[in-house]
Amino acid sequence: VENSFRVQRQPQLVFGHNTIRELATYLHTLGTSHLCVVASKSVASLEVVNTLLSSLRKEGFEYELMIHTQEPNVSSVDTIAQNIATYEETTVIGIGGGSVLDTAKAASVVAYQLQKGNTCSVKDFLEGVGDTPPPSQRLPLILIPTTAGTGSESTNNAVISEVGPQGFKKSLRHDSYVADIALVDPSLLASLDLSMLGPTALDALTQNLEAYTSQRASPYISSLVYTALVNHALSLKEILETGITTPSSLSHLAYGAYISGIAITSCGLGYVHALAGPMGALHPINHSHVCSMLISPINNALREKGDSRYLELMNTLEKGWGEDPFLFLEHLTQKVVLPPLKEYGFTLAELDHLSDSTPQRDSLSELSPHTLRSILYDLY
Ligand SMILES: [Fe+2]
Repeated sequence: VENSFRVQRQPQLVFGHNTIRELATYLHTLGTSHLCVVASKSVASLEVVNTLLSSLRKEGFEYELMIHTQEPNVSSVDTIAQNIATYEETTVIGIGGGSVLDTAKAASVVAYQLQKGNTCSVKDFLEGVGDTPPPSQRLPLILIPTTAGTGSESTNNAVISEVGPQGFKKSLRHDSYVADIALVDPSLLASLDLSMLGPTALDALTQNLEAYTSQRASPYISSLVYTALVNHALSLKEILETGITTPSSLSHLAYGAYISGIAITSCGLGYVHALAGPMGALHPINHSHVCSMLISPINNALREKGDSRYLELMNTLEKGWGEDPFLFLEHLTQKVVLPPLKEYGFTLAELDHLSDSTPQRDSLSELSPHTLRSILYDLY
């Protein structure tokens, strides 16, 4: 261990098939009796969630179900926060995909301020948008993912966006926003269809890979990421090839996504995510679609730069994946077919601007605007 490094705060993790049935036990340890449950409509209608909620009521918990269906934006977060703030001594539970978890996380911060009598909006605290440092407090927070993508259940941020010419996609971030408990039950992924599962899993894979090959990578986090990255990608390959999920492959997907959140919080991200933020602000393109399109060509371009540390790390993946890692990524992403960028509304002028303005972030090599332009044009 040669270099100094930082490891950010992590949630208490409850992991495994059917662990959702243990939720009441953990709620008792938090000493809470009222719950604000933020969920998407489709998740709220799942039998497993209905069973959970009725068992919580039998155990003496009062809950309010708050339905959230869109990517978090300023008004959707503020509205849910105002609703949550009307309940004293409540715990916020987010159950759903990344959008729902980010909404619950951000709303737990704003609702705390509203309960203290501070008039505010989530916009006030957003990086690069607001003029107020994000407050360190929030309401108690439990996150339960039902997709295996962003790893929001283990990150310290929530991404809030407004789409359009003046749009933004920015983070509400503070170390104390990491959830108190992340309950990761892989059996909740069983109802996902493959068109959803493929891209979201490629988001998690991108996050693990960008953190693993980051300038800020640490031996501590890399030892977690390597195993997760190998098993996650092999399971995803198996699922995309066979169209069948197994308890084991779902476990690898759920675990890989959880670790990817820890990885990016401590080690940062590279070019794919540097592009995904501004692209999502320009047009309503799903974040996971950007990751799925870019992970292979960006890594091919990084290979060309020939950074020895990067090539050494990719070589360790060759051992784990059992084939050339660049071909592995190419074949894997070919199985997730997505529309060209123009169908999302992008123009060539926008792609030019993205190529000229995208920062390196924590990537080991710098890619030229010319390289980025040719990658984006190929996807146009
Ligand atoms: Fe991501």
